[in-house]
Amino acid sequence: MRYKKIRNTISLSKDLLNRFVKDGDIVVDATVGNGNDTLILSKLVGSRGMVYGFDIQEEAIARTRKLLEENNLLDRVYLIHDSHEKIDEYIQEPLDLIVYNLGYLPRGDKRIITRADSTLTSVSKALELLKENGIMLIVSYIGHPGGLEEKIALEEYLGRLDQGQFNVLRSEFLNQKNMPPLIYLIEKSSKE
Ligand SMILES: C[S@@+](CC[C@H](N)C(=O)[O-])C[C@H]1O[C@@H](n2cnc3c(N)ncnc32)[C@H](O)[C@@H]1O
Repeated sequence: MRYKKIRNTISLSKDLLNRFVKDGDIVVDATVGNGNDTLILSKLVGSRGMVYGFDIQEEAIARTRKLLEENNLLDRVYLIHDSHEKIDEYIQEPLDLIVYNLGYLPRGDKRIITRADSTLTSVSKALELLKENGIMLIVSYIGHPGGLEEKIALEEYLGRLDQGQFNVLRSEFLNQKNMPPLIYLIEKSSKE
């Protein structure tokens, strides 16, 4: 038997990107990695939209650039080889959506991981940049060294966000083996 609708966290995260990102949107992939999310985003925003993509590893930027070139979608993506902690130095315009896929680069150096302190700095700056009713999606992995600490710090931070300004949702599989990742979905409220 195969599940089709809520198979795993990664498929759920893709479903959510498809649900929330529209033609013409300005979005950020805060951890481009192998470029899978960047590719999805670049299709969804269309030729009028824009995707900013961050990664601290040259290898990740190169793999993502190659994937976008192969799909003729590099024209709407601005790749930034730097930490997402510095998001405010690169982006000043209001954002429709920001996605973080935390952890290490698959098929890369597993010692290079996202870390609680830089992740939280980035998330707090990115929440400022979000438009009203903008969405932040975070996929958090707990199976690698450092992952659980990052998840705990993230939850502590997200759990304290003012309910009048943000809606924060956590989604997790309760019956999957091998410590499956979790999703956090944050919506910024509108002022009305
Ligand atoms: C799980 S991977 C991302 C996978 C990617 N979303 C995909 O679809 O292939 C996590 C990435 O975060 C990157 N990373 C780690 N710390 C970072 C930071 N401070 N700023 C930006 N990227 C970072 C790693 O280099 C790695 O490529």
